[in-house]
Amino acid sequence: MTIGPYLQNAWYAAMWSADLAPGTLVARTILDEPLVFWRPASGGVAALGDRCPHRFAPLSMGRVAGDVLQCGYHGLEFNAAGACVNNPHPNRAVPPGTTVGTHPVTERYSIVWIWIGDGEPDESYIPDYSLLDAAPVENVSRRDYLLMAANYELIADNLLDLSHASFLHAGLLGNEAMVDTRTDVERAGNTLWVSRFTPDVPVPRLYDLMFRQDGRNVDIWTRIRWDAPGCLLNDTGACAPGTDRSTGTGLFGVHLLTPETATTTHYHFCAVRQNAVQRDVAADEHIRTQLSELRHRAFEEQDRAMIEAQQRNITRSAGEMRPALLSVDAGIVRYHRMVEELRAGAPGDS
Ligand code: FES
Ligand SMILES: [Fe+2]
Repeated sequence: MTIGPYLQNAWYAAMWSADLAPGTLVARTILDEPLVFWRPASGGVAALGDRCPHRFAPLSMGRVAGDVLQCGYHGLEFNAAGACVNNPHPNRAVPPGTTVGTHPVTERYSIVWIWIGDGEPDESYIPDYSLLDAAPVENVSRRDYLLMAANYELIADNLLDLSHASFLHAGLLGNEAMVDTRTDVERAGNTLWVSRFTPDVPVPRLYDLMFRQDGRNVDIWTRIRWDAPGCLLNDTGACAPGTDRSTGTGLFGVHLLTPETATTTHYHFCAVRQNAVQRDVAADEHIRTQLSELRHRAFEEQDRAMIEAQQRNITRSAGEMRPALLSVDAGIVRYHRMVEELRAGAPGDS
């Protein structure tokens, strides 16, 4: 089992927009590179290398002063393009090369995206998460975050094989009655979907919470979308057995995976209810809180514990492991093939 180099010329989710308050500096390592994010007063978001060219202090220990970031050590000031625009000391000369590296950054769907690569940053590569901004606030769970001690491809593997819900999330997101389910894989261009449909099974807790709250059997669908480099959207829900899914309810799970290092990942996630059964304000707020709490618990205590332990085994094996392939791995196999194509720079249908 090998984990390859990071995908280049791609937009990575750096953080939720709400996590970058005006006037603050947020230090975040992305693809092994320490960066500092901030909002220049005149607009936009800047991402600079988090190391001052003077004495190498982290710029994230400085402060925002209007349109510049002032180093906290001796006060050099840098603009959003990374140029030193002020030396406050006698003679005020700015030595040549007193600059810091930058990356293109944009904000879309309440997410700060950073472009990594030498190519022209093309915003059309950002997958559609417009539902995040379009949904009524009571239908959107907490915009959540975990730092996972595992390579981001292992987390993508976890999400592209949701058969694990029957075991790792038994009772909460799945159960053993759901094991006997076919996994279907489709690809269009550089987007991959992995789908599962399970008829007439006991309802897992999270689905019951959103749907009828009566414990009766349901049909369950999951259809998860992957776009490079680590952008996933899970369309999942429950309906009464034998009925059309438009009569049911569920959620869209947003999952954004950004490598911090080869063995650590920034994991941002959020759920948007779809076709929500509206009750009263208090009941809807209860569902929203429960959705946030139960999903956080599932991802932190169940997925994270398992994936981090898996990473430790893989690290110990120094890449010598060959996974045994099961039918449920169909999506994972296709995903790794697409990643290899993108690494080779020759993406296309297959
Ligand atoms: S280290 Fe930044 S100004 Fe000296
Ligand atoms: Fe999981």
